[in-house]
Amino acid sequence: MDFRPIGSSGLRVAPVGLGAMPLSIDGRPSERDAIRVVHAALEAGMTLIDTADVYCLDDRDIGHNERLIARALSEWKGARPVVATKGGLERPGGAWVPSGRPEHLRHACEASLKALGVETIALYQLHSPDPRVPFADSVGTLAELRREGKIEHVGLSNVTVEEIRAARRIVPIASVQNRCNILDRQPWLDGVLVACEQETIALLAYAPVGGHRGSGRIAESAPLRAVAERRGVSPYQVALAWLLGKSPVLIPIPGASRVTSAVDSAHAMALRLEPVDLAALDAAFPTR
Ligand SMILES: NC(=O)c1ccc[n+]([C@@H]2O[C@H](COP(=O)([O-])OP(=O)(O)OC[C@H]3O[C@@H](n4cnc5c(N)ncnc54)[C@H](OP(=O)(O)O)[C@@H]3O)[C@@H](O)[C@H]2O)c1
Repeated sequence: MDFRPIGSSGLRVAPVGLGAMPLSIDGRPSERDAIRVVHAALEAGMTLIDTADVYCLDDRDIGHNERLIARALSEWKGARPVVATKGGLERPGGAWVPSGRPEHLRHACEASLKALGVETIALYQLHSPDPRVPFADSVGTLAELRREGKIEHVGLSNVTVEEIRAARRIVPIASVQNRCNILDRQPWLDGVLVACEQETIALLAYAPVGGHRGSGRIAESAPLRAVAERRGVSPYQVALAWLLGKSPVLIPIPGASRVTSAVDSAHAMALRLEPVDLAALDAAFPTR
């Protein structure tokens, strides 16, 4: 399958990327097994890895996932993937709390540069708006970090259409990372998908197979299972291929803590759903 652009950034990636979160949060695999998952994803053709400073157990463990990715890539002989990271949350006691103050974002970006072992972060995403901080102040800090060369491209996450428009007035936005899967279809309901298409912004679909704790719903879905059986693939691949077929700006980033999940998800890039499959899925999962 053809590579997809990350907005107007000039970066192009294989259409399914690796969501690295399950490698570092509660229930994470051993470091050796986690590195195997990263290598298996790259071997299977993925060229985008999504990480964040807060993919870790709690505030004492910040940067775990970024350090893991850096270690995996130091042992990887193939082409360098695009590594996208995020700042703007904290993990007090393991909770997920927005933290969009300029000082926090600046400190987080410096720490991510160090953890990833790079001079510039290819794609730095604001993890979430912080209701206690003016949105323009958080985005403005990312714009400053970009001017300073610490960030190449800016992305947003967990944002509305209004926030996307407001951010674009401050700095070019390459990507939006919002929850998006065949079972929930939020970006169709809230207009974010259309906004991304209109503004040439990549929509990195997080929780693309139902979410970290919700992926079992994909395996249990009768319409997905029916198509999967017809094509001889997993229902996860069907869910990902459906997303890929819905819009050229969509780039799903399925998470994996096991090699088999990562490789199976990568195979969705080669899956062509037939008109009969698409008709059945559109009837079961309408987007309007
Ligand atoms: N920006 C945000 O606020 C935000 C929030 C959540 C996630 N994310 C990002 O988005 C990524 C994806 O979201 P997510 O991990 O929450 O949810 P997800 O990708 O919908 O589900 C992940 C879980 O589904 C299972 N899975 C995935 N592909 C599979 C396959 N082909 N076959 C069988 N099982 C499969 C994995 O199981 P195993 O663990 O057993 O391999 C994994 O733990 C995260 O890793 C993270 O990078 C961002």
